[in-house]
Amino acid sequence: MKIAIDGPAGSGKSTIAKLIAKNLNITYIDTGAMYRAVTLYFMDKNIPANDLDSIKHELPNIELEFIDNQMHMNQKNVSLEIRTPRVTNNVSNYAKIDIIREDLQNKQKFIALKQSVIMDGRDIGTVVLKDADFKFFLVATVLERARRRLIDLNREGYQMDINLLIEEIERRDAIDASRDHSPLKKADDAIEIDTSKLTIDEVIEKIENIIKRG
Ligand code: CDP
Repeated sequence: MKIAIDGPAGSGKSTIAKLIAKNLNITYIDTGAMYRAVTLYFMDKNIPANDLDSIKHELPNIELEFIDNQMHMNQKNVSLEIRTPRVTNNVSNYAKIDIIREDLQNKQKFIALKQSVIMDGRDIGTVVLKDADFKFFLVATVLERARRRLIDLNREGYQMDINLLIEEIERRDAIDASRDHSPLKKADDAIEIDTSKLTIDEVIEKIENIIKRG
């Protein structure tokens, strides 16, 4: 079984996908974590997003692996580091680069060849799992998405002004939706769910009912 979950930043994709993966006993792949890990790698090496030669040269040196839902890059668990504001504020600039997208999309397609998966991202229903059995596109108002992000950040020990979060989310969505290569977009055959006024359990119930009905 292949399930695709796409949507803009903070629409609840990863929370929902993780729980559905557990309920259905299938593998969860957080493709955003892969773009974040690659961003961390290049930022740590001081390679800016416009240095395409260095990016091309370094890409084969980045090994990515999920172990117990934790993102490992070159044998190091980077799950916490990839969620820092430093990475969040830069990821969309690296994620719009063609060679990075093609490299990660190939890795994602390869993972899905061997097993049942639920993948979340921006281009899963449109490109990576074009033939998915089920496609969902989660949306929510930007205020609600910023509120959720604030709760996550507070839990991780960061303080942040909600207006800055709204700005960051809108800026990231604009870059993700306007890039040439596999932009953030609802697949024609995806089911859109507005999660603004729904609890996590309500979203899961909706999705699982659709899956059960086949
Ligand atoms: O968790 P959140 O919704 O904030 O973002 P994420 O899923 O961790 O993705 C981080 C960034 O990676 C996005 O803003 C996109 O720039 C990029 N991304 C992408 O381009 N394609 C994907 N399939 C997944 C993420």
